[in-house]
Amino acid sequence: MGFDFPGKEWVTTYIPLASSIALALYVVWDARRPKVGLVNPDIQKDQQKVVHSIDVEDIGEKLSICRCWRSKTFPLCDGVHKVHNRETGDNVGPLRLKRRDVA
Ligand code: FES
Repeated sequence: MGFDFPGKEWVTTYIPLASSIALALYVVWDARRPKVGLVNPDIQKDQQKVVHSIDVEDIGEKLSICRCWRSKTFPLCDGVHKVHNRETGDNVGPLRLKRRDVA
């Protein structure tokens, strides 16, 4: 049915299929590639600025604050900076806050 021409299957099948595969591969590649130039690759990207507050009174004996921006418990460190460092050659780690022993 419809207009028929030589190579029609290329236009109607193979080119759209190849384009869809290429697009899917690009989406996967783009999601996995390091976001060069971004300090924050994923956290609260819908916000203009990411700000957290922790009351000093709420800190127990110690607390580790994430500085790699990859923690799933951000702003708290979950240790994933080790993976980031291994994959990128970076050397980031948390800011550790601890109470001084008061006698
Ligand atoms: S997870 Fe980010 S500094 Fe530890």
